[in-house]
Amino acid sequence: MIQYIKILKMKVPFINLKRQYLLMKREINEAIEGVLKKGWFILGENVERFEQEFANYCGAEYGIGMGSGTEALAFTLLACGVKEGDEVITVSTTASATVLAISFARATPVFVDVDPGAYTMDSTRIEEKITNRTKVILPVHLYGQPADMDPVLDIANAHKLLVIEDASQSHGAEYKGKKVGSIGDIGCFSFYPTKNLGAYGDGGIVVTDNEKIAEKVRMLRNYGEKEKYKAQLKGYNSRLDELQAAILIVKLKKLDKWNEKRREIAELYSSLIKNPAIMTPNEAPYAKHVYHLYVVRSKTRSKLKNYLKSQGIETIIHYPLPVHLQDAYQGLGYKVGSLPVSERIANEVLSLPLYPELSDKEIDYIIKCINSYEKD
Ligand SMILES: Cc1ncc(COP(=O)(O)O)c(C=O)c1O
Repeated sequence: MIQYIKILKMKVPFINLKRQYLLMKREINEAIEGVLKKGWFILGENVERFEQEFANYCGAEYGIGMGSGTEALAFTLLACGVKEGDEVITVSTTASATVLAISFARATPVFVDVDPGAYTMDSTRIEEKITNRTKVILPVHLYGQPADMDPVLDIANAHKLLVIEDASQSHGAEYKGKKVGSIGDIGCFSFYPTKNLGAYGDGGIVVTDNEKIAEKVRMLRNYGEKEKYKAQLKGYNSRLDELQAAILIVKLKKLDKWNEKRREIAELYSSLIKNPAIMTPNEAPYAKHVYHLYVVRSKTRSKLKNYLKSQGIETIIHYPLPVHLQDAYQGLGYKVGSLPVSERIANEVLSLPLYPELSDKEIDYIIKCINSYEKD
């Protein structure tokens, strides 16, 4: 019997982007070749087309291609007029890049704890953090799950604050039937290669219906120029490039199909993982979750991770330390115990492999291994 299990052992990487490329090699190669043959690499027809197509996809008027998701957030904050001393309310259970973008804009990140079931901003904790310096509420649609936006929008309206969505992990996710990115005032996305919509390098986008903010972000990303060689603002260089845009045009057509596949795999995991030592994720009642990450929880997380590793299954912890406890942000004055839900989650979460190209055999193997995990 032991021999039999050994033979069945598989190696399942956390992600396999090569597999995705090989399935669409011809279209991708054609898109890349098209750019190379044209010989135009910065701010050309591919960027313009992708910006429009992605904005349409999100249900927003304008799209501005950026160099990364971090820069999309940072330049959006600057375009909103955020300045030194202003406060931006966000969460600590996120990629540190969310908070880095706020610091880059010289504003002060103010953390609220997250909902223990959805892992996104706990809207009941926002108002107690509002001061006369608060300018923006910046919820994160984490792991593919939209934050509960209606209460966030109500609070923002009542206090005249802007809402910037960090949708870097949730391309195509929906909140009450509406695509994320177009629910608040501005939506920011990353196209880091592993994202649900990923480039073959860095990239990001800002989407909005606000013409003034769109125009300002557009200037900021390109040296502060509206007209060539006449800088109106001290801007920066943060542009999505033509090669990445051409690739993203091809990939955007497949995003809905990929997200459906992610949801199918998540449903299999959630219905077939039956191990009392493991808690599977929830889809909030208002949400269409797109499972950028399938994150389980376990009180014996290290042991579970090691066990899965011994079975050939690679997992990742998103994220082992909430941002308020990371060295770079110690100056903000948060201590252990400041955000109890975020801290508890960080000790228990573990992301399993989930991507559209996982085979049925791999899915089955992951489920079997998890179900055979013994915590004691
Ligand atoms: C929630 C979140 N915000 C921001 C970012 C930053 O995006 P980028 O890596 O493209 O700068 C990421 C991704 O890495 C992210 O997951």
